[in-house]
Amino acid sequence: MSFDLLAPHYRWMEALCAAGQLQRCRTALLAELAAPQRVLVYGEGNGRFLVELLRRFPAAQVTVVEASAVMIELARARLRRAGLAHSHVEFIHADALTWPPPASAYDLIVTCFFLDCFREDQLQHLLPTIASAAAADAQWLHADFQIAPAGLRRVCSRVIVGILYAFFRRVTRLPAHELVNVAPYLTTAGFTRRARREFVLGLVFCDLWMGSRDCVS
Ligand SMILES: C[S@@+](CC[C@H](N)C(=O)[O-])C[C@H]1O[C@@H](n2cnc3c(N)ncnc32)[C@H](O)[C@@H]1O
Repeated sequence: MSFDLLAPHYRWMEALCAAGQLQRCRTALLAELAAPQRVLVYGEGNGRFLVELLRRFPAAQVTVVEASAVMIELARARLRRAGLAHSHVEFIHADALTWPPPASAYDLIVTCFFLDCFREDQLQHLLPTIASAAAADAQWLHADFQIAPAGLRRVCSRVIVGILYAFFRRVTRLPAHELVNVAPYLTTAGFTRRARREFVLGLVFCDLWMGSRDCVS
């Protein structure tokens, strides 16, 4: 699996297919975050979320785990263009499936359009690994696609997500072929959903999960 081939085209393809909706989705809950000190971002891609994160929290120390070297270069260039080259960002070029994060080290975890890259048998191992990197009261920002529960929206979302998987599996050799509901895994890991925003008629969502147990959903 590699996003290297796709990386240079990712930005214009996103603009063409989703206008600003995916970026709105990624950043929708930034204003609701408690200021994080240490952030772990998985599969950041070309840096669009990262720039907004650092604009809002310039003192945050950010670790990015990203398997695509080209995506990392694009993200670095985007930081430079945004005047954020001297931010505290460490890029780790690694496969999240094998990279061992430090335990309980981060107060914000970010997985934007990343967990949909994996099959359920991979997520069964990956999600507890990611959760182990979270401090006790950590926040977890998670954005992704979803299939609508019923009606025409369900049909449309299944078709769109099916086309996306067919495309990404061909171009990037993505292992996944369907969306997995990760909510039960986050709940098992001790997280509670505090907020949700939906975009594109509910096709994409952004959730804020909290590591403490006294949250409302
Ligand atoms: C669908 S893109 C999403 C990029 C960005 N987060 C966004 O919101 O558009 C998935 C990203 O995760 C990275 N990725 C996929 N599998 C990975 C893995 N096993 N380890 C680390 N990064 C991975 C890809 O290189 C790519 O940048």
